[in-house]
Amino acid sequence: MEAEIAGWLAVAARFVHVVAAIMWIGNSLLFTWMELNLLPPAKKADGTPKDDQLLGYLDMLHGGGVFHLQKRVLDPKAIPVPLHWFMWQSYTTWISGVVLLVAVFYINGGTALLDATKTALPGSGAIALSIGGIVFGWCAYDALWRSPLGHFPRAALGVSFALLIGAAWFFDQFFNGRAVYLQIGAMMGSFMSANVFFHIIRNQKKFMASLESGAAHDPKYGKAAKTRSLHNHYMTFPVLFLMLSAHFPQVTSAEWSVPILAVIVATLMWGKHMMNTRGHNPNWLVSMLGALVLAGIAIGWMLVLPGDAEPAPVRLEGKTGEPAVAVDPLAKAGAKLFISQTCATCHQAGSSQLGPSLNGLYGTTVLLADGTRTQANESYLRESILQPQAKLVKGYPAAMPSFAHLKPEQVDELVAYIKSLQ
Ligand code: HEC
Repeated sequence: MEAEIAGWLAVAARFVHVVAAIMWIGNSLLFTWMELNLLPPAKKADGTPKDDQLLGYLDMLHGGGVFHLQKRVLDPKAIPVPLHWFMWQSYTTWISGVVLLVAVFYINGGTALLDATKTALPGSGAIALSIGGIVFGWCAYDALWRSPLGHFPRAALGVSFALLIGAAWFFDQFFNGRAVYLQIGAMMGSFMSANVFFHIIRNQKKFMASLESGAAHDPKYGKAAKTRSLHNHYMTFPVLFLMLSAHFPQVTSAEWSVPILAVIVATLMWGKHMMNTRGHNPNWLVSMLGALVLAGIAIGWMLVLPGDAEPAPVRLEGKTGEPAVAVDPLAKAGAKLFISQTCATCHQAGSSQLGPSLNGLYGTTVLLADGTRTQANESYLRESILQPQAKLVKGYPAAMPSFAHLKPEQVDELVAYIKSLQ
């Protein structure tokens, strides 16, 4: 019942999350685009501006008319009404994202975050790490950009990037690949919303308060907000990729998933930067495509690089949370295969789960799509792996690919692992 409620909660939260994120990111992209494409205001013969309240202007064709847009200094005596603010797209994205994180990863005790082949950490520890990462990550990022280093954007960017990849490496010691990508995405997404809440909107409020008290337009508030707004803009592409990564099991389950994450984040930020410079940089397209090709080569190389020859020591846990006594070495090897062969992507609880959970399957009776029943014994498990379409589980799509290319001993290992999942 709990799992069912969590499932429906995830459906609702995911839909709201995607719609709100589209609205927020759409705004971010459009506002930055307008900012970059503003034309300088006209000047009089003596070089002084014709209209000293005008910062720039732009004409846009849309919907059967021209939007003649002006960016102006705000006159405290003539504050326009209504004056639109943009924040709820961001807050709605964040709130629905938190609900989704709970419904997909936290509600079933946090074990969906973990990789049993890497750690014996309990699910509650995984949830604590995940929440701690978001809170601590924000404090570190915010402190870094408030510190004197923040005046040297390139250095601060380098340190921020190194910290982010360090965090991915840290989470990779405990979490499965999909959870690592989602965790880093959730951290960056939270930084973006916190930027809106703590910097952008707060500065806009101060700005409006100063105007309402009759003071002249002070650009200092806008400047502070603009830095964070630019950070958000550059984070959009990487966050989108990370949030969609549950659909990219080839990437998240790769042996080198953390270095691959680093390449992807850096390339997407660079690509966005090149798109932003296209007005004055004749080489922007070459530079963007070149970076994509280089990233493709680097990732392709990392995908074929061999991982650790020895499987990592495995500490599987029994259902009670106690380490299972005398873990079968076959099951240990099977646990590793279960991840490297992407079985986990479909069979582990979570957003892209296509197949049934295999916990406690062995020894039960399975109801098949044709209405018959079968015993989940060793030969059934073996057949499910080699010829998945031979017997389809009722209620599930015929979506499992055949793993007939596996060596017989690998199939034995997988079967031993599934048997150990009690
Ligand atoms: C693309 C998603 C996908 C992948 C990858 C995948 N499976 Fe499946 N699996 C399914 C689906 C969907 C079903 C249910 C339909 C069926 O019976 O084929 C299923 C069914 C099963 C069953 C029968 C479950 C039951 O309740 O009777 C077993 C056992 C199984 N898979 C093991 C594996 C193993 C081991 C791997 C990795 C080698 C794997 N699967 C990879 C989607 C997947």
